[in-house]
Amino acid sequence: MSFQLSGSGPDIYERTLVPLWFGRWAEALLAQVSLAPGERVLDVACGTGITTRLAKRAVGDDGHVTGLDNNAGMLAMAHSLAAELDITWVERDAVDTGLPSDSIDALISQHGYHYFPDQAAALAEFHRILVPGGRIAVSIWDGHSVYTKALCAALETHISPRIARKQRAQRQTPSARTLEDSLSAAGFHNVSVVRQELSINVPLAADFVPLHLASMPIAAAFHDLADQNRTALIADVSRALRDYVVGDRMIYPDAVNVLTGLKRHPMASQGDGILPSQV
Ligand SMILES: C[S@@+](CC[C@H](N)C(=O)[O-])C[C@H]1O[C@@H](n2cnc3c(N)ncnc32)[C@H](O)[C@@H]1O
Repeated sequence: MSFQLSGSGPDIYERTLVPLWFGRWAEALLAQVSLAPGERVLDVACGTGITTRLAKRAVGDDGHVTGLDNNAGMLAMAHSLAAELDITWVERDAVDTGLPSDSIDALISQHGYHYFPDQAAALAEFHRILVPGGRIAVSIWDGHSVYTKALCAALETHISPRIARKQRAQRQTPSARTLEDSLSAAGFHNVSVVRQELSINVPLAADFVPLHLASMPIAAAFHDLADQNRTALIADVSRALRDYVVGDRMIYPDAVNVLTGLKRHPMASQGDGILPSQV
C-alpha cells in the first residue's frame, strides 16, 4: 500500500483534507506530545506540513523542527506554506532519515506509519535518532470510519474491487496491541496507546466525495467515471450516511490511536525514566 500524490493532489489535500481532517488530528496529536520551547523535533511523513508547522510554533525560535517525507510534491507544498518559518525539509524515506544518532528530542508522525513498507525498520531508525529519554508519538487511524466504509463499498460497486481495495488499504491499520508490541520490540519503554475520537464535520457527500477522492491516490479512477456512475456512487454514500446529516453537513465520529513511548536512558533500570504524563 502507498500514499503517493502527484499533480494537483498535494494542493487539493492541503485545501480540503487538512482543514476538515488532518489539521484537527494534528491539534489532538500535539496536545498529547506536549512539545516544549527549545526542543528538536522530527515530523516523519509530514505531508504538506500541518503537524510540522504546529510543532514549530510549540518549540519556538530556540527549537528546531525537521519535516521528512518521501514525496517531493507534498514537501514542495509544505515548503511553500512555511516560507517564513525556520523549518528543515528532508525528502527521504522513514527507514533512512539520514539524521545523526541521538539528535532528536521528540519524534512525531501523523497518518504515515501504516504506509511504511518496513515498520520495524522505521521504528529502529526512530529509536536510533532519538536522544536517551527522547519521546515518540505516532498517530494512526483506528481502522475505518462510517464514511470511509460507505465510500469503499460504493467504490467496489461503481468502479472496481481493485480500486476499492486500494482505498480500503488507506485505513488498514495495526491494532492498538500490535502497535504497542512493535514499539516495545524496537526498544522503547513507557509504551502506551491513547485512543482519540473526534466528531468530523464535512460537506454533504455530493460535495465532499469528489474533493476527498481528488486528493487520494485513486483520484484518476474516480475522475474517469461516466457521469451517471459518479452520481450513483455518491448517492450510495449519501444513503449510507443519512443518519449523520445535519443541515448541509455530514457529522460523524472518527478515531485514531496515538502510540507513545520513550527511549530508555542507557543507565536506567526497568520502570525508571520519565512519567507517562510527560510523553
Ligand atoms: C496521509 S498523508 C499524512 C501527511 C501528514 N502527516 C498529515 O497529517 O497531513 C501520508 C504521508 O506519508 C508519506 N509517506 C508514505 N510512506 C512514506 C515513507 N516510507 N517515508 C516517508 N514518508 C512516507 C506520504 O508521502 C504522505 O505525505
